[in-house]
Amino acid sequence: MPEHDVRLRVLEEELSRQIEQLPPSRIREAMGYSLLAGGKRLRPMLLFAAMDAYGQDWHAALPVACAIEMMHTYSLIHDDMPEMDNDTLRRGRPCCHVQFGDTVALLAGDALQTLSFQNAADTPDPAKAGKLCALLARKAGAAGMCLGQDLDLAAEDNGHVSLEQLEEIEQYKTGCLFELPLAAGAILCDAPQDIPTWDSIGRTLGILFQIQDDLLERESSEEQMGKSLSDAGNNKATALSLFGLEEGKRRVAAGFEDIEGQLASMQIDSAPVRALFDTMKNRTH
Ligand code: IPE
Ligand code: IPE
Ligand code: MG
Ligand code: MG
Repeated sequence: MPEHDVRLRVLEEELSRQIEQLPPSRIREAMGYSLLAGGKRLRPMLLFAAMDAYGQDWHAALPVACAIEMMHTYSLIHDDMPEMDNDTLRRGRPCCHVQFGDTVALLAGDALQTLSFQNAADTPDPAKAGKLCALLARKAGAAGMCLGQDLDLAAEDNGHVSLEQLEEIEQYKTGCLFELPLAAGAILCDAPQDIPTWDSIGRTLGILFQIQDDLLERESSEEQMGKSLSDAGNNKATALSLFGLEEGKRRVAAGFEDIEGQLASMQIDSAPVRALFDTMKNRTH
């Protein structure tokens, strides 16, 4: 079995096991429904690739990988709710709130977030566990992903957004959860000196990932993407509405090139991370 598939299987099994361990409830059902719905698992894979880059065993990162995927899934459940993007399809299924109602979806998101911290706290080295919990809080909270979500919704109300504002929104709402696995890898591998570079890579990745999403939204269907494509209906400013298709493609390519340069500036084995970025470059959903 290819190494990527082995990692994916171990991650999926651990996520399932953790949901099964919870007492039976509507919340547990809703958490499992959204978490175990076959997301691309890009953020855990970025963390595992960062472990490779430092020559460390990726298994040591499994609790943090689960933590990050839980945090990301919680952000998606809340993002889809009527008060935010008001969408109906996610990961190829009706959204959590469509399936279970708003109350249970809200609680499932909350509980995935707390389970995320529990996982980070389970990292065997207590000093690293503390640092990882703090990192999760910073990247997901009011100076990270939540800030981005707030700016995103405020921009929707305002109508017009400049390119600078759009990049600021994307850097927080998407970039922070890409910075998270890369910086977590540096913490686990005792390489704090590399965190600023990983942060910069994650930020660039967030911005170009959102442009890719806009490009894919133009070119594919909700069925192919497995989620509602509601930006236009929600009056969301997108990169493409600001600078068009060709410039969007150029910026994605330039972003990946910039990341290559940043990788080369660190004392790591960058091949595994570059291989993952190559698959992200060519993503179709
Ligand atoms: C979706 O992220 C949210 C955005 C930041 C655009 P992904 O495209 O990684 O979603 P999943 O995890 O594969 O469902
Ligand atoms: C999702 O951003 C970002 C977070 C959930 C933090 P979007 O709202 O732009 O992404 P999709 O299109 O719903 O996946
Ligand atoms: Mg949104
Ligand atoms: Mg959304």
